[in-house]
Amino acid sequence: MIKRLLLLAPAAASAQIIYATSYNNHALTTLNLDVAKGSLAKLGAEKTDCGSEPTWLTLDAANSVLYCLNEGWGGAASITSYKASAASGALETLDILPVLKSPVSATLFGANNSRLAVAYYDTSSFGTFSVSNPKDLILLGQQNYTLASPGPVPDRQDAPHLHDAVLDPTGKFVLVPDLGSDLLRLFKVDGSALAASAAGVVKTPAGAGPRHAAFAVSGRGANAKTYLYSFNELSNSVTGYSVVYKGDGTPEFTQLFDIPSHGPGTSVPAGTKAAEIEVSPDQKFVILSSRGENSLDIPAFDGSNSTIKSDPLVTFSIDAATGKLTLVQVAPAGGRNPRGFSLNKRGDLLVSALQDDNRVVVYQRDVRSGKLGKVVASATVGEGANNGPNYALFYE
Ligand SMILES: *[C@@H]1O[C@H](CO)[C@@H](O)[C@H](O)[C@H]1NC(C)=O
Ligand SMILES: *[C@@H]1O[C@H](CO)[C@@H](O)[C@H](O)[C@H]1NC(C)=O
Ligand SMILES: *[C@@H]1O[C@H](CO)[C@@H](O)[C@H](O)[C@H]1NC(C)=O
Repeated sequence: MIKRLLLLAPAAASAQIIYATSYNNHALTTLNLDVAKGSLAKLGAEKTDCGSEPTWLTLDAANSVLYCLNEGWGGAASITSYKASAASGALETLDILPVLKSPVSATLFGANNSRLAVAYYDTSSFGTFSVSNPKDLILLGQQNYTLASPGPVPDRQDAPHLHDAVLDPTGKFVLVPDLGSDLLRLFKVDGSALAASAAGVVKTPAGAGPRHAAFAVSGRGANAKTYLYSFNELSNSVTGYSVVYKGDGTPEFTQLFDIPSHGPGTSVPAGTKAAEIEVSPDQKFVILSSRGENSLDIPAFDGSNSTIKSDPLVTFSIDAATGKLTLVQVAPAGGRNPRGFSLNKRGDLLVSALQDDNRVVVYQRDVRSGKLGKVVASATVGEGANNGPNYALFYE
């Protein structure tokens, strides 16, 4: 027994767990990343009880619980909760709750991560759930939104399309980009009831189609400044806001700029669709994924002497004093259609899910320069043409 533990110890230090969701094989896959060996291997059987279209994953690392959203185009939409073994990453299903169609993103909020806020795309809805007992998920409230008339991009802005749910740095507000309405919807967390109720809206540029957003807190103490960056799917632009908290704790958003996704003066090919945005753990960089550009040629992952097309991940540095973004790097995402990616806590690894290539790739990242480097490892996830892996997340 002692011998076994000693043998396992070094592996545990360099091994990391990554969860990835994929539409085309309807599965949630657990991957074991070994940085030293450069391997990314499937661990255990794929989970198929997250339903027909598993997508967004929300991790409660402190309580070892993983929540998986299922958009449910080919079946019934649902939220599944899993116990995630801290030792092995193995998932044990705790509950499956049927929900409205098209949940696409979620965030935990409230004391002990006891609530989940969910954005729904097709059904134009915002929902809150009690997850204080992850074996018994409970719908608390739901708000449906409508549009009086279509927006400037009528085929995508025919109705409100809520696309992300982001907890603000104070933990007291949830911000929800609404792609259909060109709005960032703000919800206030009521501390005692732990309900999130509508608390106002921020208008984005017309026709922007805000998809995902991320907060950054630059500097410390009295010098700390909060910024919000919205990544807009229809305009392929990033809108920066300064966030100032008023006396009662309500954030006030002032637009600072709206720049193209590769920086001022650049453009992207027709058909490009902005996807994910992350702020690095040190709050110094913004990273974006841009779908449909096919702009980069990179070595194939199959060991053959050939190249494949890749969309980019675009990194900007954040000016702590002004919130302005400066282009740092346009790097390969590892293939086509990088819908979702995430960083590890140290910020020295990035995992990218390539929806149209059935591939998950882990890249090195230089924390100081913010630049992505070599491929650490990659794995095939998903099966069939297109609509494969759409999100990947480190378990830590
Ligand atoms: C925190 O939440 C977890 C479930 O996610 C639960 O098991 C635990 O008992 C809670 N702790 C407290 C102090 O409420
Ligand atoms: C919201 O819309 C859904 C259908 O998308 C419907 O089932 C639900 O009853 C509506 N809720 C409210 C409060 O109107
Ligand atoms: C790899 O491909 C390049 C360009 O097609 C070619 O010049 C080179 O000889 C090839 N190398 C091998 C080892 O096949």
